[in-house]
Amino acid sequence: MNAGILGVGHYAPEKVLTNQDLEKMVDTSDEWIRSRTGIEERRIAADGEDTSHMAVNAARSALEDANMDAEELDMILVATVTPDQPFPSVATMLQEQLGARKVAAMDLSAACAGFMYGVITAKQFIESGGYKNVLVVGVEKLSKITNWEDRNTCVLFGDGAGAAVIGPVSDDRGIMSFELGSDGSGGPHLYQDETLFMNGREVFKFAVRQMPESSVNVVKKIGLKEEDVDYLIPHQANIRIMEAARERLGISEDKMATSVKRYGNTSSASIPMALSEEVKAGKIKDNDLVVLVGFGGGLTWGAVALRWGK
Ligand code: UT7
Repeated sequence: MNAGILGVGHYAPEKVLTNQDLEKMVDTSDEWIRSRTGIEERRIAADGEDTSHMAVNAARSALEDANMDAEELDMILVATVTPDQPFPSVATMLQEQLGARKVAAMDLSAACAGFMYGVITAKQFIESGGYKNVLVVGVEKLSKITNWEDRNTCVLFGDGAGAAVIGPVSDDRGIMSFELGSDGSGGPHLYQDETLFMNGREVFKFAVRQMPESSVNVVKKIGLKEEDVDYLIPHQANIRIMEAARERLGISEDKMATSVKRYGNTSSASIPMALSEEVKAGKIKDNDLVVLVGFGGGLTWGAVALRWGK
C-alpha cells in the first residue's frame, strides 16, 4: 500500500505587507528585496488571529478537496515553530475545532522542513497499516517572532498555512521515495531567542547545496533521472535558492512553484501553500512526477518524489 496526497488546501491572512511598506519601517528598498529574494509582498495575520486559526482554515480546505469528513481522520500532525502556546499543541486544537474523533494529534518542530517531516511521518503510519487518513498541516505566524527593526530578516518572512490529507492510494501513485536529514552543527545560523536570528549567508550556502542534492537523491532512489521530474515544489525561501534546485533538475521555469513572490518565506507553511495553489490552478496532473523539497533551521532538510494522483 502506498501513501499519497488525497487533498490539499491553504490559507493566507488578508493583510498584505508590501516592500514599499517595509521601506517606511527599515532602511531597505523594493529593488534590494526583489533582486536578492524575489519577494514582492507577504501576508501578516491580524491581531488576535493566531496560528491555530490559520491552521483550521487550511485544514478545512484540504478536507473539502479530499472530499472527506474530519471524522474520517486517524491522526493530526502540525508542523510549526510558532504555535499559539508552547502547549497544548496546535494539533489538539485542530482535533477539537475540526470535529475530529479523539485521534492522535501532535505538533512537530523541524522549522522550514517541518511539512516534509510531517508528510514522511504520515507515510510511515499509513504504510504500516496503523492509520488510514492523516492530516498534515504546515502553519506559521512568523510575524510574532520577527524583529521588525532588523532589515536582515524582517523583509523575508510572512504568515500562512497549508495542509494536505495523506492516505492510501494505488501502488503506482503516491510517495515513491523520501529523504530526511539534520545537521545540528548549523543550529547557530538560524534560531529563535526572543525574536528570530539568521546568518543569511551561511543558510544560503547550505540551502543552495542541500535543496538540489536532496531533489536529485529522491529521484535517483526510484531509478529515475532529473529529466523525468514534471514539477518542483521547493521551500519558498528565496527565488535564487529555488532556481539552484530547478537548474540542477534541468526543468523549465513554468514547472516550478514561485509563490515566494506573494507570500515571502512562510517556513513550514510554504511547501503546502505552494502545492495547494499549483494543484488548484490545474498545473499538476495525474501521473506527474512531483518533487517536494525543503530545508530549514536545525539545520534540517527533507524531500519526497511523488506520483500525483490517487
Ligand atoms: O527558511 C529558511 C531560511 N532562510 C533562508 O533561506 C535565507 C537564506 N539566505 C538568503 O536568502 C540571503 O542570504 C539573504 C536574502 C538573507 C541575503 O542576501 P545576500 O545576497 O546573501 O546578501 P548579504 O547577506 O551578502 O548582504 C548584502 C548586503 C549587506 O550589506 P554589506 O554588509 O555588504 O554592506 C547587508 O547589510 O545587504 C545588506 N542588507 C540589506 N540591504 C537592504 C541586508 N538586508 C538588507 C535589506 N535591505 N533588507
